[in-house]
Amino acid sequence: MSFINWESEKYSVNHDVMDKQHMQLVDMINQFHDFLNQGESKDALKMILGKLRVYADTHFKAEEGLLGKSNYPEVESHKKLHEYYIVKLSEFEKAMEKAPCNSDVMFFMKDWLMEHIEKEDKKYSNFLKSK
Ligand SMILES: [Fe+2]
Ligand SMILES: [Fe+2]
Repeated sequence: MSFINWESEKYSVNHDVMDKQHMQLVDMINQFHDFLNQGESKDALKMILGKLRVYADTHFKAEEGLLGKSNYPEVESHKKLHEYYIVKLSEFEKAMEKAPCNSDVMFFMKDWLMEHIEKEDKKYSNFLKSK
């Protein structure tokens, strides 16, 4: 069993591209979890964290683009939520330069992302469906 199991019913936003990107983010967090459990080096953990941050940023921009062109009313507040995650990931990367990584980072990455998809991304999904 993976650290995060993708459940379509729970997490799908009914948009193929967004779903695929969400799954990719989940894969990266699962990989981080495996690396941490296998006692991989800090460099390896930092590398995957960096990849996750870059890809999360790519995904967020794509999603914001979609919401903007769909005239989603909450696009600005949604952007703020995304910014928060990127800031947190950057802070974790910096912190890893000084101290070993602990599982708090991993749980934050998972909890924030899955809750965001389930609550916030589902809101735009419902909005797009109703259009
Ligand atoms: Fe989002
Ligand atoms: Fe998203």
